[in-house]
Amino acid sequence: MLLATLLAPALVASAALAAPSPAAPRSYAEARGAYPVTLSMPAGRQYHSDPAVRMAWMRDQAAELRRKYKQHLADDEIELLRRHDELAELQRRKRDTSGAVTLTDVNVDASYAGKVGIGTPAQYFLVIMDTGSSDLWVMDNDCSQCTGITTYDTTSSSTLSVSTSPFEVSYGSGDVAGLLAEDTVSMGGFSVTQQAFGLVNQTVTSGSSSSSSSLIDAPLSGLMGLAFASIANSGATPWWQTLAENTWSDPEFGVFLQRWRGVSTVQDVESQGGEIVFGGLNSSMFTGSMNYISIPTANEDYWRIAVESITIQGTQLSYASSTASAAIDTGTTLIGAPSSVVAAVYAKIANSQSLASSGMSGYYEYPCSTVVNFSLGFGGKVYSVSDDDFNLGQTYAGSSMCVGALFTVSTSSQSPINWIVGASFLKNVYTSFRYNPSAIGFAQLATDVQASGNITAAANGTSVSSKSSSTSAAGPRTYAPAAVSLGGLVVASLFI
Ligand SMILES: *[C@@H]1O[C@H](CO)[C@@H](O)[C@H](O)[C@H]1NC(C)=O
Ligand SMILES: *[C@@H]1O[C@H](CO)[C@@H](O)[C@H](O)[C@H]1NC(C)=O
Ligand SMILES: *[C@@H]1O[C@H](CO)[C@@H](O)[C@H](O)[C@H]1NC(C)=O
Ligand SMILES: *[C@@H]1O[C@H](CO)[C@@H](O)[C@H](O)[C@H]1NC(C)=O
Ligand SMILES: *[C@@H]1O[C@H](CO)[C@@H](O)[C@H](O)[C@H]1NC(C)=O
Repeated sequence: MLLATLLAPALVASAALAAPSPAAPRSYAEARGAYPVTLSMPAGRQYHSDPAVRMAWMRDQAAELRRKYKQHLADDEIELLRRHDELAELQRRKRDTSGAVTLTDVNVDASYAGKVGIGTPAQYFLVIMDTGSSDLWVMDNDCSQCTGITTYDTTSSSTLSVSTSPFEVSYGSGDVAGLLAEDTVSMGGFSVTQQAFGLVNQTVTSGSSSSSSSLIDAPLSGLMGLAFASIANSGATPWWQTLAENTWSDPEFGVFLQRWRGVSTVQDVESQGGEIVFGGLNSSMFTGSMNYISIPTANEDYWRIAVESITIQGTQLSYASSTASAAIDTGTTLIGAPSSVVAAVYAKIANSQSLASSGMSGYYEYPCSTVVNFSLGFGGKVYSVSDDDFNLGQTYAGSSMCVGALFTVSTSSQSPINWIVGASFLKNVYTSFRYNPSAIGFAQLATDVQASGNITAAANGTSVSSKSSSTSAAGPRTYAPAAVSLGGLVVASLFI
């Protein structure tokens, strides 16, 4: 639900400054031991052995000529040109097909975004993929705060219809406002026509008095809500749900979030940030069977299930799980839990303490030398969060204390959720969001996928894990004071 991402820029800034590696910097592909790419020169399409390819070349040539001499063309020739362009557009959309969308990791695991096409012809945007909300919105070209952001050009889509109804959504990190509109929306090769979405010209960041502070920054342009229609502010059926109801033979989507934390060469924007497959799962990304935890129809709002157990440093806490109250949220960076739970967890980490008096309400610190093993139980199984994800780095430059990814959320008593389980957890599993019968599924990541998301393995020789950064001379991670207080306000402003 776009929560805690504001904390990230501080982490990011520091990640970017991280200690230079002793070894020569390696590209991500090299570090992964990725396969070499063989380039071969394709033969000209006009000489291609496949007649269909030669035909396509001829049609394109004809269209080029018609376009060039358009002012001299008869109506039927203009019609031919229009049809050619329409077909080309359809085929371009199909090429993105297979349902798979490569995710972009923004600000070192803070946000995961996918490319969405909106309008005719399609305009493409990177939007946060958020299973913790149900509205789609993009910034439009009427936005004055949008310096550097790719915005939707409302004048150039032939299928756009803009209403006079206001569109507003509040997230953990701020609010967005604009007008409700409808247009064709495509992603992963699937299109929904007349999809309602928000044309947003204004964002307000929680805790920021400056109206020029945008909720999102380039390269992001908006957000795609992937939860159920019942919590859509627009009242519209979300894009994915329309497809799950009508189009997908396998009505689920599978998510893998790549871990970039700790990779010394990491950039603010990493184009290999994981993958969402719409209309199925990527079976090569996980091993064993998917452990589905069913969701009663009455709970189809957030994607939420019960946390059944909590294990920390080998000790299972006594914890009564009775309600399906944990939102499984790709749009949240960290893991939020009720304050009593958070206090009990840190009580099992020696020498930990609350950061409330340092202005980081809801967060705790603990000795950086401690390797934390934190696990959550779902559907009868226990899933561990790697220490790489739990340890957010030093509380301030030079500190021997590090901040933990588990923090306090205080939801209202009316809220259906009181846990928010974000990327810090989800990077450790392959996740299914299944529409029918509705369920969330977790499976163990395949070994090579896991290794690609393992900072030690991925950045062999160049690793600056948050723990070692406390002893490295350059670039320890710190929390900028502004971000710290924003983090606190983000927590405090949830669901009010
Ligand atoms: C599935 O994941 C593998 C990597 O594990 C990737 O190579 C492949 O392209 C993915 N398939 C689809 C359909 O996304
Ligand atoms: C956003 O659009 C609304 C409706 O058109 C308008 O009233 C408002 O002034 C705009 N806000 C900004 C910041 O452009
Ligand atoms: C972490 O804790 C879980 C649950 O107690 C356990 O299954 C797992 O082996 C532990 N992992 C490590 C690395 O100690
Ligand atoms: C990460 O890689 C290290 C070193 O290769 C290995 O010891 C560790 O078990 C891996 N962790 C995970 C979660 O795969
Ligand atoms: C890292 O790479 C070096 C040589 O490139 C190799 O000797 C070493 O075993 C690797 N370590 C890990 C943990 O993969």
